[in-house]
Amino acid sequence: MNPIRYERRQYTTGNTPIEKLDRLSKALGGPTISIKRDDLLGLTAGGNKTRKLEYLVADAIKQGADTLITCGAVQSNHCRLTLAAAVREGLACQLVLTEPETGYNPLASGNHLLFHLLGAEKIKVIPSDGDMLAAMEELAQALKKEGRKAYVIPVGGSNEVGSLGYMACAEEIEQQTWETGTPFDYVVTATGSAGTQAGLIAGFMARQSNTKVIGVNVSRDRATQEAKVLELLHATAETVGLTGEILPSAIRCEDQYVGPGYALPTDEMIEAVQLLARTEGILLDPVYTGKAMAGLIGMIRQGQFTKEDHVLFLHTGGSPALYTAPHLFLSENK
Ligand SMILES: Cc1ncc(COP(=O)(O)O)c(C=O)c1O
Repeated sequence: MNPIRYERRQYTTGNTPIEKLDRLSKALGGPTISIKRDDLLGLTAGGNKTRKLEYLVADAIKQGADTLITCGAVQSNHCRLTLAAAVREGLACQLVLTEPETGYNPLASGNHLLFHLLGAEKIKVIPSDGDMLAAMEELAQALKKEGRKAYVIPVGGSNEVGSLGYMACAEEIEQQTWETGTPFDYVVTATGSAGTQAGLIAGFMARQSNTKVIGVNVSRDRATQEAKVLELLHATAETVGLTGEILPSAIRCEDQYVGPGYALPTDEMIEAVQLLARTEGILLDPVYTGKAMAGLIGMIRQGQFTKEDHVLFLHTGGSPALYTAPHLFLSENK
């Protein structure tokens, strides 16, 4: 990837750290596990969307937009970070949120509280099965009538522009491992709207790296998620002019850790969040990284890695949602 060809805003100073998780590795008796702390990326409370937004917002500014419009769930980390990027750039930001099954609570905390604190210009709530893209287009048209110009960012910031952020992350990981001399055999990440996984795979392909990416699904079944990643990987590869065959076998998405559905808790997720907190003092979230870590733990217990393997867990952020679910983690009798 030639970074000069793509305009990029910078929201993080330097690289995010890669830390060894010796206590976790020992507790699991498994491979050497390290963690890439993308929860420490810049903008409000960090997380993977910050990398995507560096490219998306640069594109928005280049196109002369004065307002960012995006969408997601009531606890969307992507909405929080898009809004934070807008604040940083002096742009306005409007959000489309889907109503949860349990109904919309205008006083919901976590990311939803931050939408208010960071000053979203408008929050439009639509039914859970509503058309988010159509709702965003409607907002964009209304702004156009006022002589303003909106830039619409798809759910999760996952398109071929947003994926460039994770191509850059793969490049960063390669540079960091070059310094330590120990390349990673696997990177394990949560996978949802697919931009993180597609970008990482494209980035490792561009570097001709042997590091394999394993996505742990947070919502869909394996075949659907793998097809989604493949489609975005093709689009990203075309955008950056990556040559070389893309084999569907480059894509692996594990769906055994989703549980009853998106954002619905599982016992494995609760165990994973507690284990990382109690072995390493690192906070995960209940929707994405908790399930991804449950996947890593499950794969280790199934013997899917050797003791000699070096595995990098990508911490994609999301901790504001942790504080919306105290009932899952409060220990009784203490
Ligand atoms: C904290 C967190 N981790 C992981 C993901 C999944 O990343 P992607 O949507 O790029 O697949 C998201 C997406 O919203 C997220 O908020």
